[in-house]
Amino acid sequence: MRRKLVAGNWKMHGSLAENRALLAALVPATRGLDRVDVAVCVPFPYLQQAQELLSGTHMLWGAQDASRHAKGAFTGEVSAQMIAEFGARYVIVGHSERRSYHGESDALVAAKCQAVLNAGLTPIVCLGERLEERERGETEAVVARQLEAVMDSLGVAALSGCVLAYEPVWAIGTGRTATPDQAQEVHAYLRRRVAERDGAVAARLTLLYGGSVKGSNAQALFSMPDIDGGLIGGASLVSEEFIAICRAAQA
Ligand code: PGA
Repeated sequence: MRRKLVAGNWKMHGSLAENRALLAALVPATRGLDRVDVAVCVPFPYLQQAQELLSGTHMLWGAQDASRHAKGAFTGEVSAQMIAEFGARYVIVGHSERRSYHGESDALVAAKCQAVLNAGLTPIVCLGERLEERERGETEAVVARQLEAVMDSLGVAALSGCVLAYEPVWAIGTGRTATPDQAQEVHAYLRRRVAERDGAVAARLTLLYGGSVKGSNAQALFSMPDIDGGLIGGASLVSEEFIAICRAAQA
């Protein structure tokens, strides 16, 4: 049995005061959920606050991006090793907002994934098709290309240290969730593609769904056989919603 993971992606939201209030609500409410790992991926400046407020609790934390480089003259970049110094467990890589607004290629995402693994952290590698790609029937081709960029450059064994998140771009922040069947179909496909290279890695791989997950639709999604939890954007900023999603993962 794979353990469920619910990870909040705060994106560029929060303040010291708001984060404190949110985490103060989340920690006690998710403490008893022993079948779920609960994490928040915060903006870089709040990693220290996350460490201060979450150390010694069951909750885990992480960042939303990392440089492909370990160190050097890369103004404005943050290395995975720096993130690791703040006790983080996860780093999101290849989120569709980075792929589209910052032109991140499949090759760059793979390099970032390697940098995160090198720092001893777990990358949450995001993939997913755009609406026009789905409408053209290209969903499987797109996610296969994104997945294979990582497997070809890092080797399939590296996936045993990664989490994958299937996030159809048309479902992110739109309120339009993939149906459980639509999501399950892509998750099963991704797991099969990994299994073609290594069945054991595929069987253990944590595959999250992301895109307009809410308290009201989480349970139906998480009950699908290949959906191992969620990457949660907007609803991760609302304590009651995020708590409801974590409880749905425990059920
Ligand atoms: P959303 O975002 O839950 O607000 O749709 C998900 C994500 O971008 O990871």
